[in-house]
Amino acid sequence: MPEQSACRLTIRDLAAAKQAGRPLSMVTAYDWPTARLVDAAGVDCVLVGDSVAMVVAGRPTTIAATIDQMIYHGEIVARGVSRALVVVDLPFPLQHLGVRTAVESAARILQATGCQAIKLEGTAGQREVIAAIVAAGIPVMGHVGLRPQAVNQLGGYRMQRDRDQLLADAAAAAEAGACGVVLECIPAAVAAEITTSLAVPTIGIGAGPDCDGQVLVLHDLIGLSLDRVPRFVRSYADLKTTITEAVSTWRQDVEARRFPAAAETPA
Ligand code: KIV
Repeated sequence: MPEQSACRLTIRDLAAAKQAGRPLSMVTAYDWPTARLVDAAGVDCVLVGDSVAMVVAGRPTTIAATIDQMIYHGEIVARGVSRALVVVDLPFPLQHLGVRTAVESAARILQATGCQAIKLEGTAGQREVIAAIVAAGIPVMGHVGLRPQAVNQLGGYRMQRDRDQLLADAAAAAEAGACGVVLECIPAAVAAEITTSLAVPTIGIGAGPDCDGQVLVLHDLIGLSLDRVPRFVRSYADLKTTITEAVSTWRQDVEARRFPAAAETPA
């Protein structure tokens, strides 16, 4: 069983941040070097999202992510993180296959990765599943609004605007014992209303400034996503250009026999 750092933040720290009005930061990571770097940058939570299927594997949706892949990436990331709370996504369709399968899958992810919580996309219909996983001692983060695993049902990656449904979904997750709720692509006013109404933190992505925290996909944040990024993303770097220029310069040096130079050559 992987070791879990005793020094990591916990779900109690998330609750305390909400109480204190301190904004929370969560970012995705899928591998060891970026896990170490985002942890060193001081974020509160590192999410091993099922977005790995799109960002790392080039799939069109997150539906392709499997539990074995989530465990593979989750274990690597958890090993690289010493301070932040590590959350791993429960991939499609495990929360829909009955309470027993959901609890077994969540437990398997927790045991095999050394993460501290799992995230689960769902509507109010997932109340029983969340409650059972929490009762097993496994912290759960809910995920409502745009649920990428349901992209085919939702008819695309689009804003979710049904206020009553969104309030009900978020409230159900919190009442079932979720330690926080991700709000994806919902109107800012609805996100603000949910945030005020819940005792647990909300973490927004495309949900405006009034959530208790914000989450972004790392590759969007650092300018490494190959596809067009959504309007709600702010890219703080342009690693696509940096990488392409570095490799291109190296290739030209190889072709011109400028690399390796004397200092890079063994005696
Ligand atoms: O899988 C993921 O990266 C996510 C975030 C977008 C919240 O669920």
